[in-house]
Amino acid sequence: MIGTGYVGLTTGVCFAELGHSVTCLDSNEEKIAQLKNGGCPIFEAGLEDLLKKNIAAGRLSFTAEYAVAIPGADIVFICVDTPPGEYGKANLTNLLAATRECAQHLDGYTLIINKSTAPVGTVKTIKEVIGEIAIGKEFDVASNPEFLAEGTAINDFMELSRIIVRTDTPKASATLKACYASLIEKGYPYIETIPQSSELIKYASKSFLDMKLSFINEIADFCEIIGADVKEVAYGMGLDSRIGGKFLQAGIGYGGSCFGKDVQALAMKGEELGYEFRMIKALIAVNSLRYRVALNKLLKNLGTLKNKKIGVLGLAYKANTDDVRDAQSLRVVLELLDAGARVTAYDPEAIGSFKKMFKRSNEVIFATNVLEAVTGADAILILTEWSEFKALNITDIKTTMSGTLIVDGRNILMRKTVEAAGFTYEGIGR
Ligand code: UGA
Repeated sequence: MIGTGYVGLTTGVCFAELGHSVTCLDSNEEKIAQLKNGGCPIFEAGLEDLLKKNIAAGRLSFTAEYAVAIPGADIVFICVDTPPGEYGKANLTNLLAATRECAQHLDGYTLIINKSTAPVGTVKTIKEVIGEIAIGKEFDVASNPEFLAEGTAINDFMELSRIIVRTDTPKASATLKACYASLIEKGYPYIETIPQSSELIKYASKSFLDMKLSFINEIADFCEIIGADVKEVAYGMGLDSRIGGKFLQAGIGYGGSCFGKDVQALAMKGEELGYEFRMIKALIAVNSLRYRVALNKLLKNLGTLKNKKIGVLGLAYKANTDDVRDAQSLRVVLELLDAGARVTAYDPEAIGSFKKMFKRSNEVIFATNVLEAVTGADAILILTEWSEFKALNITDIKTTMSGTLIVDGRNILMRKTVEAAGFTYEGIGR
């Protein structure tokens, strides 16, 4: 498993749990040292326990050396980051560097699988790169996109919605099928596609989810104009099985390491090939300004943000993760500071990663719990839907705050309860 990020580590640990012998490789030696001791560098529900269990069982090991991980491997999964590059195109530098290193150490038949999200045509490129280096070596290259979501990644792997693969030879197909055999036996769909389809399934799936979310966010804005409640509207829509209720929670827009960059990369790939994705471009536009909805509600009620104390609850881009990559909190907190607000922030897991990523962290006060974050605050701003925030003790909060405004960017509180306690409640689209 090349790369021990969210995808590589979770996938590696889960394959070990299925009974395979897995070596996870990462160039970051500090991370490898931590993993060797059973320490988990990311917060992902259930991952650390499975990690420890499989190390103890002798099925899972870690290394920073290609010479250790690659020779003798039946399958190599490439799970490295493909960050946004120039003009939003996927940057394949890390992916191709990993490919070259891997190619130098092939020994015996090896199936190399790209799991990194990369544009249509990347498998072909990987094949060419390996072919130039691993002369005379027997290998195949395949694609097997991942659909894990952070926070539910273990479950998403063990009870997956589908296994999509693209293989070119019967040997590659048999090797990959054997790898997933125990999940295929359980009846999870295993679908072999023609070359370009598997890569596109990943991008098209994500864009569709983004579209659903941006759509409901537009409906939420319209709800506010006509006095409807978007939660009721989404529930009513979702009962139609053709629509489904998932990804219809209106709020401050999507974030995370993948959504923004992958949708952008698909739009750019289209342009490169002379095709304009009009709907996809529209959803990018809708989401890019979405974070402002929370700021506008603060401004509407407070008049100005200058010298106002704002208690920010939630920094992670969604609940159950410590990840803040491309989180809406980064944009919102920046705007709050620029507008002269004093920000105290609390998140159950993501303060450490926020401090690392947000350049002006020294201007933010970080609290160790909710009460500390809201003490003396003119307003509370909820940015992440953590369960802890759903069960806020409204009465305690009321006595410690100096203002009475709650802006609920995730629609997790009940308007009636909050208003009955004497607060002004601002949800999204309700
Ligand atoms: C997403 C996809 O869901 C996975 O299938 C995919 O494998 C993964 O990206 C990837 O390519 O790595 P993830 O980024 O972990 O997974 O997060 P999601 O749960 O999909 O949420 C994305 C964003 O949309 C979050 O900011 C979340 O708060 C927001 N969201 C989601 C809403 O605002 N409302 C919703 O109803 C659903």
